[in-house]
Amino acid sequence: MSGITQEETDLIDAARAAMRHAHAPYSRFAVGAALRLTDGSIITGSNFENASYGLSLCAETVAIATASAQGRLTEIVQIAVAGGPADKPGHPEPITPCGRCRQVIKEAQDMAGRPVTILCAAPAGPQVSRYGLDELLPHAFGPADLGLGG
Ligand code: THU
Repeated sequence: MSGITQEETDLIDAARAAMRHAHAPYSRFAVGAALRLTDGSIITGSNFENASYGLSLCAETVAIATASAQGRLTEIVQIAVAGGPADKPGHPEPITPCGRCRQVIKEAQDMAGRPVTILCAAPAGPQVSRYGLDELLPHAFGPADLGLGG
């Protein structure tokens, strides 16, 4: 994608760097996520697998839960995600957040009260896609469906 800003390139670089901390001995698929906050600071997360496979946590969810634990859930403005198979470093296709992570991003967006954009990248290379959450998760369930604000 053309039109990626320096700020966005930096966020993608942070997501790619976070891939190095993936705990993914079962899938051998490393994912990194990076959140940019309103003040420009960056919070990262990596996928965190478990021998009981279904308990594994995705990188985006780890990053967003970290922001929440730091009291900064409402400050997220953009998310970058990068990932690929550890054994195939040339993997060229950007990944997009899984369905569960899209719903977790929806929670962050609703708490922030402003649109969160998502940058999707491969482990390396220039191919990047930028999405709004409404594109990745149309007709989403959220606080408004519970009769709450958001
Ligand atoms: N994974 C993520 O971390 N984020 C996603 O959006 C998709 C999948 C992780 C989960 C698991 O550790 C590995 O990638 C393979 O599915």
